[in-house]
Amino acid sequence: MKKRCIFMLIAVLTLSLIVVGCAQKAEAPKTEAPAQKAPQSAEGEKAAPKRKLIAVGEATFAPFEFVDTNTGKPTGFDVELIQAIAEASGFEVEYKNLDWNSLIPALKNKEADLVVSGMTITDERALEVTFSDPYFTSGQAWAVKEGSPIKTLNDLSGKKVAVQINTTGDYAAQKIDKKFKDEKKPGLNIKRLKNAADVFNELKAGGVDCIISDLPVIREYLKNHPEDKLLIPEPAFTVEYYGIAMRKEDKDIHELINKGLAKVKASGKYDSLYEKYFGKQ
Ligand code: ARG
Repeated sequence: MKKRCIFMLIAVLTLSLIVVGCAQKAEAPKTEAPAQKAPQSAEGEKAAPKRKLIAVGEATFAPFEFVDTNTGKPTGFDVELIQAIAEASGFEVEYKNLDWNSLIPALKNKEADLVVSGMTITDERALEVTFSDPYFTSGQAWAVKEGSPIKTLNDLSGKKVAVQINTTGDYAAQKIDKKFKDEKKPGLNIKRLKNAADVFNELKAGGVDCIISDLPVIREYLKNHPEDKLLIPEPAFTVEYYGIAMRKEDKDIHELINKGLAKVKASGKYDSLYEKYFGKQ
């Protein structure tokens, strides 16, 4: 009897040890699992990096693109907008500063994928590139020094004007020149300069009587340089829409940009960027 009892006790103890052992083993992976999974999934994300697109602009065109004096990097409405579009469409973007005349060539030679540079959508440019949906309404305006005798565009006959070369400001100046000449009046003496910033410097230095540029950019300059004492005598005389330029064949990129832009508008991000750079509408 005693022997049997001892045998039973040993049997029960052994069995329960086995059961506990198994239970622990069964549980073991459960407790270790999350610790193992985390690094795996992090590696998984690294294994599929986001697509990276290169955006370019001529960054002397505040508030759209300008070099931040603290960081030395381009920033502005356009730069933040393309970053927001990239986030919304799940790609990465790097923004580089190039000369205005190099922007469309950079698309063609694949140095860049996107031109985001306050670029007006024009029929001529649309022969070479595809534009995104319009993202900003702008227009050409002109500015003079305070006290200038030039009060209207018609007073510009025979005067010197500075523009950035191959911009819509340049094209507007050429049209005005032609109009004066058609009317047998002295034309415009147009100084076609390389950078947007050169235009303001030329007026400041007294090299020209007037400048023609995009109204929001002139406004920004006046705000940042009250000491220059410039004024904008008339409202904008053209209506233009900015678009992001892309290679014609990159249909997938056109979609990423237009869908991303729509999302950025729908989410309120566009409005908050607008307010940051242009104040409340
Ligand atoms: N909107 C004008 C154009 O397309 C001027 C753009 C100049 N942009 C610049 N980043 N400098 O011709």
